[in-house]
Amino acid sequence: MLGHSVLNPMSPQALAISNLFILTMIVSLGIILIIAGVLTYTSIRFRRRPGQGEPPQTFGITKLEIAWTVAPFLLLVAVFGVTVQAMRLSSPGQISISAAEAHNPHRLTVIGHQWWWQVRYASGVDTANEIHIPVGQRFVVALTSVDVIHSFWVPQCGPKIDLVPGQTNYLWLECDRAGVYNGACSEYCGAGHAWMLLRIIAEPQARFSAWEQAQRRAAPATARLHPPAGYSAREVAAGVRLFQYFPCQSCHNVDGLRSNGAPARAEVAPDLTHFGSRQALAAGRIGNTPAHVTAWLANPDKLKPGVHMPNFQLDQTQLRDLTAFLESLR
Ligand code: CUA
Repeated sequence: MLGHSVLNPMSPQALAISNLFILTMIVSLGIILIIAGVLTYTSIRFRRRPGQGEPPQTFGITKLEIAWTVAPFLLLVAVFGVTVQAMRLSSPGQISISAAEAHNPHRLTVIGHQWWWQVRYASGVDTANEIHIPVGQRFVVALTSVDVIHSFWVPQCGPKIDLVPGQTNYLWLECDRAGVYNGACSEYCGAGHAWMLLRIIAEPQARFSAWEQAQRRAAPATARLHPPAGYSAREVAAGVRLFQYFPCQSCHNVDGLRSNGAPARAEVAPDLTHFGSRQALAAGRIGNTPAHVTAWLANPDKLKPGVHMPNFQLDQTQLRDLTAFLESLR
């Protein structure tokens, strides 16, 4: 029922936040009940009665005033204490991390783009929008942005943190149960903000290692490409040629495939080397199926208004060929 909310924590970091939230809610609820109770009692007990004259006038009760100053003060100090504790448990902060980062094999870099997430592993894997991690392992994530301020937030796995151009912030990322955890950009970053989604895929170590191995292969020795169901090898081959003919590689990298004039490693838009292995496309906008890829290529702006990917006015054959090629990148 709690779904992907903060109240369904899956990591020690998220648990610390959830506990803090529940504790402060209970304290607040207690205060409301006391105030509402006293207010109700006094307004009934001391209500105006017929024939009653002016009530006795009192000015100030020192003991009471000290009490209602000291009690909230102590309460706020206590809440401050548990808040600081939750911050320590949920975030590595800026300073303590540098030393730890150098030794941590579980390092990740997340770079915010309008409107997608670039994800780089210490092993060299470069992917987008879907972060695979092994269950129960703590990753140190370095976050930054190439354009505007974005904010990384996967409620079940930890705190929210900004991705700021020219600055690196750090986050611990961990999930203690296998599953897919949804997140989103939570800082307004332009037209495509609402469709800047991400997901954490927490899986057993063996599956994670297999995934990482597969991602490290430079994908298309073109002959190895297998067409998706319903498409032919000829269409895949035609798709490769179209991909090289259109300026796709000015923005998208595909390891093992270079077009004339394209940069060595384009990072303007998501790396497509293993595009077909992802669950969703357009930063979580729609599921990764051939029909959706075709719809996306036909008019990216229709699915994600403001997206920087142009509409190349592809005809039906070109759409089929490119879809066949992209979906075969596994
Ligand atoms: Cu990126 Cu909002």
